[in-house]
Amino acid sequence: MSTSTPKRSQTPKWYATAVFYQALVHAFQDSNADGIGDLRGLISRLDYLAWLGIDCLWLPPFYLSPMRDDGYDIADYYAVDPRYGTMADMEELIAAAHARGIRVVTDLALNHTSDQHAWFQASRRDPSGPYGDYYVWGDDPQRYPEIRVIFNDTEESNWAWDPVRQQYYFHRFYSHQPDLNYDCPSVHREVFKIIRFWMRKGIDGFRLDAIPYLYERDGVGGESLPETLHFIEQVRALVDAEFPDALIIAEANQPPAQTMEFFGAGNRVHMVFNFPVMPALFAALATGSAAGVYDVLDKLPELPAGCQWGTFLRNHDELTLEMVPPEVREVMYAAYMPDPRAKANDGIARRLAPLVGGDCRKLELMFSLLFSLPGAPFIYYGDEIGMGEDITLPDRHAVRTPMQWEEGPGAGFSTAAPQWPIVGGTSVAAQRAEEDSLLHFVRGLIAQRKAHPELALAPYEPVETGVDAVFAFQRGSLLCVHNFGAEAVDLGPVELGPFGWAWIPVE
Ligand code: BGC
Repeated sequence: MSTSTPKRSQTPKWYATAVFYQALVHAFQDSNADGIGDLRGLISRLDYLAWLGIDCLWLPPFYLSPMRDDGYDIADYYAVDPRYGTMADMEELIAAAHARGIRVVTDLALNHTSDQHAWFQASRRDPSGPYGDYYVWGDDPQRYPEIRVIFNDTEESNWAWDPVRQQYYFHRFYSHQPDLNYDCPSVHREVFKIIRFWMRKGIDGFRLDAIPYLYERDGVGGESLPETLHFIEQVRALVDAEFPDALIIAEANQPPAQTMEFFGAGNRVHMVFNFPVMPALFAALATGSAAGVYDVLDKLPELPAGCQWGTFLRNHDELTLEMVPPEVREVMYAAYMPDPRAKANDGIARRLAPLVGGDCRKLELMFSLLFSLPGAPFIYYGDEIGMGEDITLPDRHAVRTPMQWEEGPGAGFSTAAPQWPIVGGTSVAAQRAEEDSLLHFVRGLIAQRKAHPELALAPYEPVETGVDAVFAFQRGSLLCVHNFGAEAVDLGPVELGPFGWAWIPVE
């Protein structure tokens, strides 16, 4: 008698079926009463994530930083910011998460550094020294006219003048974040060294932050260039050779065809955040028509083996509208931005619950989509309790306020005055005590998702219902139906209330 071993490619990788949770260190739990969340605080809350059913924690940057872009402005890739703790705390966090069966992925912001990084300081002072060409220097601030300004609330140009070097440097984001020069081979070596350093410490993967923008070229601009895709292949080759269980996921906010490029033939990243589908879901909810969601998913063909989407509703950034057509953007502003203070660049810096007007039916509908669309779901901390926002705060801090663990001052987050205000109004403790709370609903969905691995792995097959408000698709033996409309609909096998949804077993 012979037993057959399944081929490697048939065994789903851990990330394909995982449920992810994004927690900002400074906003999750303060352990030393300075009003700022820290790594030891996060460790003390891991049991909550385990209770919820989380498989992987996504930790945005915790590296040494002047914090002018919430840590995405890195001053030293090898140091933990002292506000957050020590390297020993980080090591303990990784071990404590692993002990609970929770993996940890973090951000690798490799398009740019802080202008406080030693490389930049050396580069500006000594153009012919070892760091002289680590950044993109030039004499013509009009170069690359095709390249759009992303942070258009604050920046007018992608170039800034450096009085020390007496040249301009290129920056895709804030002017205090000079872009690294990927035409410099030493920069590649630095990135590989950083990857090895953190993966040897036990980090399970990286979100490649702002990854489409690594290279710039005259005439074609600076997004998703072949050179950038080739560099990603090199990163992937390193990971496959040395850390075969690790994940790389791309933050590539691009149109559908370019988004697909980041998967390559399965030789670039393992996962890509599904930026095309996210705004389409909110637009469908605003218009009561599912047509746009079907359209977007049509443009996203099936993925190569071993690849997966990262599905998300919200994250630490604005609800981005950079890639949607202008008419959809207008619909979104009208529906979701009654107060213009919520605008951040071209998007809307609001949280999930306030976006849907606190309507439980809409919240549940959106969570059902998050858990049934093709991809692995990413929950943004606090959205599982429908946390609110503070649109009076600068930049995107409206959606980065402290996690609300309990009612009352400090919200169980800190015993000190918090660095950023607490919004209040609900808490984990209050919702844990109530069976029919959003928190229990989300926890139940996570459990259901685990009971139905086809929601993670089966192909997406659109189903036409003839009702414009309804978005229906099959995943394996489950038919998932979602009603974006305010009217009840009778679909035969099921009746959906306004904003109702159902996962129906079919043969
Ligand atoms: C991050 C943002 C950050 C930007 C520039 C992004 O892609 O998600 O939060 O501001 O990179 O560093």
